[in-house]
Amino acid sequence: MTVPKFAALKGTGRKISMVTAYDFPFARLVDQAGVEAVLVGDTLSMVVQGHENTLPVTLDEMIYHAEMVGRAVNQALVVVDMPFPSYHVGRYKAIDNAGRILKRARCQAVKLEGGADQAETIAAIVSAGIPVMAHCGLRPQSVHQLGGYKVQRDEEALIEDARAAAQAGAFAMVLECIPTTIARRITEMLAIPTIGIGAGGDCDGQVLVLHDVLGLTSGYVPRFVKSYADLSTTIVGALQQFRDEVRSGEFPAPEHAFQ
Ligand code: KIV
Repeated sequence: MTVPKFAALKGTGRKISMVTAYDFPFARLVDQAGVEAVLVGDTLSMVVQGHENTLPVTLDEMIYHAEMVGRAVNQALVVVDMPFPSYHVGRYKAIDNAGRILKRARCQAVKLEGGADQAETIAAIVSAGIPVMAHCGLRPQSVHQLGGYKVQRDEEALIEDARAAAQAGAFAMVLECIPTTIARRITEMLAIPTIGIGAGGDCDGQVLVLHDVLGLTSGYVPRFVKSYADLSTTIVGALQQFRDEVRSGEFPAPEHAFQ
């Protein structure tokens, strides 16, 4: 998958799927499943590192995980999140940091949270030849400013953000936690694909966090998530069986040992 091919999926009738991944083995499985894009999301901070929000993860940590994902993926587009505040401290620094990601990880694009407020930054990174996926609606990196993870309902502001990010050169846009009607309006308005999460079924595609899809998330799971497996139960069951067989002496059996 290339960025132009991904963008050209808009209007073809084929819905786009994107899933996060943070390491080699899972990225390989996600790629094998045939999704169009793998996102090395800054949800890494919560899902893998165990933080309470996405703010603590660093650029170096994002790159470290993006390298693993990049080595595993052969088919899908690989997009890497720019973490807070790697693109907030000036356009020069934003290009430099996006460039660091592209130089180190086998990825094709970066993603950053923002609309009208980040339009100049998006344009600057794009002008350096680095494709940008924008992220509008609920922006988890602004959780403190937003006062929590709430559905974003200011229609005019959302429309303005989406328009500004697209005009700045974003090739696609994540729409997070906005009403279905607004997501539909934005999707119809834009020439670039919209990838929804908690934004209803009318977006051009959908994205979910891998650990939510696989049933590996502990604690609160948002309403917009659908789990397609219960791997937590499967994994704990397998490990308990291992523990029991070690205790009983059933493992290792003669075929697991050398003579
Ligand atoms: O970081 C992430 O995983 C994301 C998705 C939830 C869209 O931005």
